[in-house]
Amino acid sequence: MIEKPDAPAARRNCDAILAVLRDVLGRSTSLLEIGSGTGQHAVYFGHALPALRWQTSDRSENHAGILAWVNEASLDNVVAPLDVDVLRRDRVDGRYDAVFSANTAHIMSYQAVVCMFRLVGTVLNEGGVFCLYGPFNVNGEFTSASNERFNESLKLQNPEMGIRDLADLNGLAAANGLSESRRYAMPANNMLIVWRGLGDDDGYA
Ligand SMILES: C[S@@+](CC[C@H](N)C(=O)[O-])C[C@H]1O[C@@H](n2cnc3c(N)ncnc32)[C@H](O)[C@@H]1O
Repeated sequence: MIEKPDAPAARRNCDAILAVLRDVLGRSTSLLEIGSGTGQHAVYFGHALPALRWQTSDRSENHAGILAWVNEASLDNVVAPLDVDVLRRDRVDGRYDAVFSANTAHIMSYQAVVCMFRLVGTVLNEGGVFCLYGPFNVNGEFTSASNERFNESLKLQNPEMGIRDLADLNGLAAANGLSESRRYAMPANNMLIVWRGLGDDDGYA
């Protein structure tokens, strides 16, 4: 059995994200996570939100680590990962009231971000929500000097990575039937953006 992977950032941001998820997810009963990473977010949030079925997913290289967390926690509502590389998978079975993804948009290529929004558009139920956590630019500007330095370090690793501008993401959202409904400031110059699908005015919150 492999040791559970640990991402210190995921440990640090859990409580701040959970407070927003409690606010936003309301009546949601099903959620797809894209890019579950270590799997520790899924277990933490699944434990705190037992009425929500939390479907993990990621590229296959991360599945053993996610399973290590999911199997140890043994929660009825947190489910083994689907193999989802958004560049290769434009559909998943089933529909969800919500999609969650953390710290993925600046790691993926922009083309992959385009694919992620397309996938979100296909899996969300009417009035469902997409919650995306991470660092973002606003009106073409970094929101802090530390985000600007972080972006430089990403570009050195891989020029396709980079902090995305919310105007671009709102364009992708609109192309897939979503519009921005809330923007939460989060610790360490991050944000959690909530887009809501068209449909039932009441949504799931
Ligand atoms: C910085 S990690 C964040 C992991 C986790 N969500 C967290 O907050 O700790 C970036 C994640 O994006 C995922 N990712 C990158 N490119 C992807 C793609 N094309 N399709 C799906 N996931 C992708 C990686 O596999 C990884 O799990």
